[in-house]
Amino acid sequence: MGMMHLAVRVLAAFFAAEMFAQASDTKKVISQYGENITVPCNGGDNKPADLIFTKWKYTRSDGTSGDLLVKQAQKDEAKISATDSYKDRVNITSDSSLVITRATLSDQITFTCMVVSFSNLNEYPVEVEVRKRPSAPEIKNKASQLENGKPTPLGECVSTDANPPVEIIWLKNNQTLVDNGNTVVITTTETKDSVTGLSSSKSRLLYAAGKEDMTSKFACLVRHVTGPDQVTAPVAFSIYYPTEKVSLQVMPAGPVKEGDNVTLKCQADGNPPPTNFNFHIKGKKVTVTGSNVHVLSGVTRDDSGEYKCSLPNNDKMEATAMITVNYLDLSVSPSGRVLKKLGELLEVKVDKNVSSEPTVIWTKEGTRLEKQPNFTILTYSHAGVYTCEMSVGGIKRSSSFQLIVEGAPKINSLTKKRSTDGKNKVLTCEAEGSPQPDVQWSVNGTDSKSTYNNGKAIFTLTVEPRLNQTVACHVVNSLGSDSRTISVLPLIDETQAKQDQPDDDDKAKLIVGIVVGLIVVAILVGIIYWLYMKRRQGTWKTGEKEMGTSEESKKLEENSHRQEV
Ligand SMILES: *[C@@H]1O[C@H](CO)[C@@H](O)[C@H](O)[C@H]1NC(C)=O
Ligand SMILES: *[C@@H]1O[C@H](CO)[C@@H](O)[C@H](O)[C@H]1NC(C)=O
Ligand SMILES: *[C@@H]1O[C@H](CO)[C@@H](O)[C@H](O)[C@H]1NC(C)=O
Ligand SMILES: *[C@@H]1O[C@H](CO)[C@@H](O)[C@H](O)[C@H]1NC(C)=O
Ligand SMILES: *[C@@H]1O[C@H](CO)[C@@H](O)[C@H](O)[C@H]1NC(C)=O
Ligand SMILES: *[C@@H]1O[C@H](CO)[C@@H](O)[C@H](O)[C@H]1NC(C)=O
Ligand SMILES: *[C@@H]1O[C@H](CO)[C@@H](O)[C@H](O)[C@H]1NC(C)=O
Ligand SMILES: *[C@@H]1O[C@H](CO)[C@@H](O)[C@H](O)[C@H]1NC(C)=O
Repeated sequence: MGMMHLAVRVLAAFFAAEMFAQASDTKKVISQYGENITVPCNGGDNKPADLIFTKWKYTRSDGTSGDLLVKQAQKDEAKISATDSYKDRVNITSDSSLVITRATLSDQITFTCMVVSFSNLNEYPVEVEVRKRPSAPEIKNKASQLENGKPTPLGECVSTDANPPVEIIWLKNNQTLVDNGNTVVITTTETKDSVTGLSSSKSRLLYAAGKEDMTSKFACLVRHVTGPDQVTAPVAFSIYYPTEKVSLQVMPAGPVKEGDNVTLKCQADGNPPPTNFNFHIKGKKVTVTGSNVHVLSGVTRDDSGEYKCSLPNNDKMEATAMITVNYLDLSVSPSGRVLKKLGELLEVKVDKNVSSEPTVIWTKEGTRLEKQPNFTILTYSHAGVYTCEMSVGGIKRSSSFQLIVEGAPKINSLTKKRSTDGKNKVLTCEAEGSPQPDVQWSVNGTDSKSTYNNGKAIFTLTVEPRLNQTVACHVVNSLGSDSRTISVLPLIDETQAKQDQPDDDDKAKLIVGIVVGLIVVAILVGIIYWLYMKRRQGTWKTGEKEMGTSEESKKLEENSHRQEV
């Protein structure tokens, strides 16, 4: 309360000061309705040394007047001389200002301060204005909706109990609406309270809405001298207008595939939107009430085509949409498990029915192939799982077959080499065949190992070569078998023997070569020596023997001739 009083006083003082500056003759004081009015007497300069008394009186514009109070210079208390309603409402301050409590509009008259001294008599008239801030504006009798293009009473803006009367302004989207006598008509009426004299204002807005007003916000603003503008909360209205255009929406918006549920949504731009729609589906008319959607569930390739929707009461309001249903049938031959013999032919055939050119990806064991496989001569490396994957418009289909290439085992090589510690021989038997062949070695060995990959089997066996031996590798599977042998010499003999040649050790080969060379030279020397000795000592001996031999053979020949005869 104190703050408000202070504010009111400051305001009053401000206006008073302003008025003094403007009019030197009659001053003006502005007060707030219901508050105390302080009417200054000559701005405080009202106590001459020879002052006898100060008197306050009033004059109405109709000429009536009256005394209010008199204050003798020597006395502390003023004497109230008013007999009317001012009797209980007036007092004088120490600086001779008149205080009138509970200001009303009837206090808007001229009060005069009379300063009487021995030497002079001065009168200082002051005009009083009483202002009243209006109530916050309210929009009443709001329209329930507006009709497109037709002037409709939108509402009444009411603001009550103001002095002076308010200015009412209609706003649309914060812009002032100006009466144009056509689409905007504003009628303002003002009434005065018979008791208080305060004004109430009412402003009616007649408005012809357009479609764009669907989003418009209307508000009413009240402007008054007492302070900042007061605005109502914004109000929106729904606008009625007929349909001008229909549209048909297909969901999903992307590619449609067989089995999808397709929703057709018919939309009209009128407000309120129509509640019933006709859908034209493959030459059939379907009327939907209370909804604007029609669902095609589990569409097939036969559902591709043109679709329409329209308004039941207006066939010309129509929209069209095309639906293309993607499909993909895939059949790959062969499929499943395919057993084939080595060297045979396998033709891969793809049969498809598809809505448009698909993307095709062939893979073997997850690795992409450049093109569709086709086998004229099957090898073991062709074995594996082949997959054909096709996709079009969100559809993906795939087909796989597992190719198995079979063949009887066949040994490609059988080799030997010295073990890393030099004490044993490691035999390696390499064979091809499918299903995976088993091996049988003709000797007992240690560290028998095997690997099998892509139809290639590698068997190894470590043997201890104590005696001259021939080792056989025998491979077998359900389709057949194959064998191969290799001679293995004791490690000591090996350096002297020719058969044991396939040795991977180059140094050993060199040594063997040198040793063999030396032996050959030794044998040659031996033969030459023997021939030389024979010529010199026993020519007759040998000759006799040779002759005997030839004689015997002659006799044998004769016998055989006789038998034939
Ligand atoms: C108005 O004056 C009366 C009497 O002097 C006083 O009691 C009251 O508090 C005053 N009101 C204001 C708002 O100053
Ligand atoms: C008038 O004001 C004086 C002081 O300024 C105060 O003593 C006196 O009580 C007031 N009279 C009335 C009737 O309020
Ligand atoms: C209208 O004006 C008020 C205050 O001036 C502001 O808060 C509001 O955002 C404005 N609205 C529009 C639609 O401009
Ligand atoms: C289509 O709708 C039916 C029921 O309305 C539902 O069972 C089915 O899963 C839907 N199909 C697809 C592909 O969404
Ligand atoms: C493709 O369509 C034809 C004719 O309708 C049919 O005979 C054939 O089996 C279909 N192919 C596939 C892969 O479905
Ligand atoms: C597959 O190979 C066979 C025989 O060589 C041939 O007739 C056929 O046209 C080939 N198919 C494809 C798709 O290349
Ligand atoms: C190999 O060992 C088995 C038993 O361990 C034995 O019966 C067989 O006679 C041996 N064969 C050779 C050739 O030593
Ligand atoms: C092994 O055979 C070779 C030639 O066949 C022969 O020279 C050698 O004396 C034989 N050794 C044994 C221990 O039988």
